[in-house]
Amino acid sequence: NIEELERQFQEKIDNDIKIEPRDWMPDAYRDTLIRQISQHAHSEIVGMLPEGNWITRAPNLRRKAVLLAKVQDEAGHGLYLYSAAETLGADREETIDDLHSGKAKYSSIFNYPTLSWADMGAIGWLVDGAAIMNQVPLCRCSYGPYARAMVRVCKEESFHQRQGFEIMTTLANGTPEQKAMAQDALNRFWWPALMMFGPNDAESKHTEQSMRWKIKRQTNDELRQQFVDITVPQAEMIGLTIPDADLKFNTETGHYEFGEINWDEFWQVVKGNGPCNKDRVDARRKAKENGMWVREAAAAYAEKRANRNKE
Ligand code: ACO
Repeated sequence: NIEELERQFQEKIDNDIKIEPRDWMPDAYRDTLIRQISQHAHSEIVGMLPEGNWITRAPNLRRKAVLLAKVQDEAGHGLYLYSAAETLGADREETIDDLHSGKAKYSSIFNYPTLSWADMGAIGWLVDGAAIMNQVPLCRCSYGPYARAMVRVCKEESFHQRQGFEIMTTLANGTPEQKAMAQDALNRFWWPALMMFGPNDAESKHTEQSMRWKIKRQTNDELRQQFVDITVPQAEMIGLTIPDADLKFNTETGHYEFGEINWDEFWQVVKGNGPCNKDRVDARRKAKENGMWVREAAAAYAEKRANRNKE
């Protein structure tokens, strides 16, 4: 009976036994994973756009090669994650259509514009830094295919974070104009990076259940705090200022206290009203339309071959 199955399922989770695609799982567990993994996949794919914007304008060949590799990694992460969602029975095309119709969510961070080269540094340092903070615990996620995907993804994210910090370090040690450019990028990306971790725990509707199922291993607020604690000293090291007047180190707790996040802005961006939401979804939709002839030709060729083999 279902209660017994659920009990055995939770027991496996409690004993850190991975759940695999063919194992029994509650519908709600499956649905939560499909939701999270597909949102994650969309984030990787949409996440190629803000940085793709600068590939042709990278300041030198080395920077260009590195940025190109990073953006390609993100495409790989997206495809890997769509496959992980498929192991749960999700239909890849339907999932992608949900992104294109505006029904599916993806990370709020990718709805901000990339206005200068320094934004490539800020994104690598802060956005990929936040992504690693959130994804390292997902390597211990209870669902096997997702956890295993995260191991590889995190290795690549760590290269992304380093390349971003290296850009920021170079600019911060450059001319006054270059340093100002780095500071401006930090000013614009700091708060949106903190928003990546999602609403405060008290407002997060999925956290409690996802923690019980060990889909999430740490809460939104825990991860956000870790990110602030690690990142503030990095900014100090390169002589940049975090744009938060309330930021201070609490010597008793050993943590940084930080100002209030603008949650109104966050929900506006999540709902589709951020600065670039429309551009991002349009770009993805256009990419699918423009590539349609390739898929049609491939399908027609596959059909022709299949018929030939029958004869
Ligand atoms: N941007 C957009 N939507 C968000 C964000 C965000 N930064 N944070 C939370 N939300 C959405 C959730 O998806 C959820 O919406 P839904 O119920 O319609 O699906 C709602 O806000 C409530 O949030 P939570 O209850 O906290 O949702 P959840 O438990 O899923 O936690 C989190 C959100 C932390 C993002 C989680 O889904 C997660 O860890 N995902 C995997 C990592 C990921 O997707 N990273 C993407 C950015 S990193 C990168 O791509 C490089």
